Amino acid sequence: MEEELIGIKNAALSFILEAKDLESLEETKLQFLGRSGKLTLAIKEITKVPVEKRKEIGILANEVKNTIEEALKRQEKILSQKKKSALFEKIDVTNPGIKPPLGHLHLVTQAIEEISEIFERIGFERVRYPEVDWDYYAFSALNFPQNHPARDEWETFFVKSYEDPKMGKIVLIPHTSSGQVREMERAKAGQKEISIKMLNIAKCYRRQSDVSHTPMFHQFEGLVIGKDISIVHLKGTLDYFVESYFGKDRKSRIRPYHFQFTEPSFEVDVTCGVCLGKGCKLCKAGWLELGGAGMVHPNVLKAGGIDSKKYTGFAFGWGVERVLMMKQGLEIDDLRILYSNDLRFLKQF
Ligand code: PHE
Repeated sequence: MEEELIGIKNAALSFILEAKDLESLEETKLQFLGRSGKLTLAIKEITKVPVEKRKEIGILANEVKNTIEEALKRQEKILSQKKKSALFEKIDVTNPGIKPPLGHLHLVTQAIEEISEIFERIGFERVRYPEVDWDYYAFSALNFPQNHPARDEWETFFVKSYEDPKMGKIVLIPHTSSGQVREMERAKAGQKEISIKMLNIAKCYRRQSDVSHTPMFHQFEGLVIGKDISIVHLKGTLDYFVESYFGKDRKSRIRPYHFQFTEPSFEVDVTCGVCLGKGCKLCKAGWLELGGAGMVHPNVLKAGGIDSKKYTGFAFGWGVERVLMMKQGLEIDDLRILYSNDLRFLKQF
């Protein structure tokens, strides 16, 4: 019995040392210590040993078991370390990594951020008003009489489902001027003195789609109301924006125009970025049209509950896509490419 136990121990130790991987080590373990493993079976035989020798053999069997178990543990450590370092050998840490594809903000979003920052620097507050709104805010409150032909210029999408006796139909806003009276109502609530410096940027919608128009576009609208606000403030704000956004070499001018909600009204032009005012095939004799502006009409102040004898104000509303194109001096044949999600185009910005 003693010899048998020693034999088992030696055999187990040499198997353990020869094991090349964790799987064959596990096999060896089962072969000796498993339920019907060699040592397990031998230990069962101890009951047959004469009583006088049983204790001695028992102690020896225990020693053999401990030795085998320790050897297994040691070899397991060695083999799992080997496995790890083999894995690392396969990774060449000097290889350049694979860069994940990185996107960026859409160029219209970039322009909106830039425009907001420019106006925030001179104290304008960015606000948001509904892009689906009542006819009242889009037209009636802005001094458009019902059925007035001027309404036709804003090729409006009407939502058919509902018409309110007071507010009229529901529209997809055709311009950000729909925020003017809403802003006056907000500023007035609980306030004794009115002071408005609003920047309203929103999506606008018109029934139009051609190379220079998309049915959805963005406008940014400024509204300033206070005591003694005059055209001088409007022109100063304009010059500041043109200089900040387009650059110091660009100039602005205002021309008389007509809007229902401003009096007097202007069309604002900026010198062409390509010829800088000399005149080229991209512009009209050196000028590019920016958009509308004017002094807030007394009827609009009245609709907003503001006393037009005490307060005056100016407003302007320009297209984001438009200023973007004017800045880049981009000769985009078709404006609709901005919204066609073609990465070959978008990646350039
Ligand atoms: N809402 C006008 C438009 O869409 C622009 C405008 C805004 C004109 C504010 C005057 C004052 O054309």
